[in-house]
Amino acid sequence: MSIFGGKKKLALSEIIDIHTHILPAVDDGSRNWDMTMHMLEIATQEGITTMVATPHHMPGKGYTSPAEIQELTGQVQAAAAEKGLDIRILPGNELFYREELLDLLEEGSIMGMNGTSHVLVEFDVMAERSYIRNAMRNILGLGYTPILAHVERYPALLEKNFETIHILRKLGVKIQVNAASISGEVGKDIQKQMKKLLKDHLVDLVGTDAHTDRRRAPRIQDCIRTLEKWCEPEYVEALVWKNAAKLLNQ
Ligand SMILES: [Fe+2]
Repeated sequence: MSIFGGKKKLALSEIIDIHTHILPAVDDGSRNWDMTMHMLEIATQEGITTMVATPHHMPGKGYTSPAEIQELTGQVQAAAAEKGLDIRILPGNELFYREELLDLLEEGSIMGMNGTSHVLVEFDVMAERSYIRNAMRNILGLGYTPILAHVERYPALLEKNFETIHILRKLGVKIQVNAASISGEVGKDIQKQMKKLLKDHLVDLVGTDAHTDRRRAPRIQDCIRTLEKWCEPEYVEALVWKNAAKLLNQ
């Protein structure tokens, strides 16, 4: 199936941002409530209708308990409604993989994406292919479905014609790419790789991974314009809306 020449455009009635750091002052994302509100304003201007709050769960970078995530997400949702912003905020988490994580997952003391058994997982950028593969098998073995956060960050996974990404997807792992890597903001080399990855239909989800209201803001329209040049409309719709809706039970 060719992904090129997809000229027909679908109206995206929803855009779901599956990866964001919008909760105020819990990690290296939004610094305070003002910034959170400004990020939500930007997101609504970009046409984003749902955001999953995915604070870091990582030694040294931040740890927010599931109860706190739930509470803060509710507060952000209420503040958005009060400001008249038409956006839905769902609870989630971005889990940095280490062995201890498996115990926490087994105990059920981790916030899944919107409380589901889908979990957003990141690794050290220098992680090796076998390490990532084994980690994902471990998580799947506990009954969770991992979403690999920003796949473009791991040079080992981009090697050998994305061989490991093929394997991970066969295992059931979902693959997420950051919007800025598709739009070219983080460099032409990465953008080229992402074009290839999309051509092979190896991406399941796009997220902004927004951290601030400035350089790493929740912007997705440039990415969507790029996707519309490269992919069939149905695939664009799946990447920014439908696949996320399915896994979030929305
Ligand atoms: Fe992130």
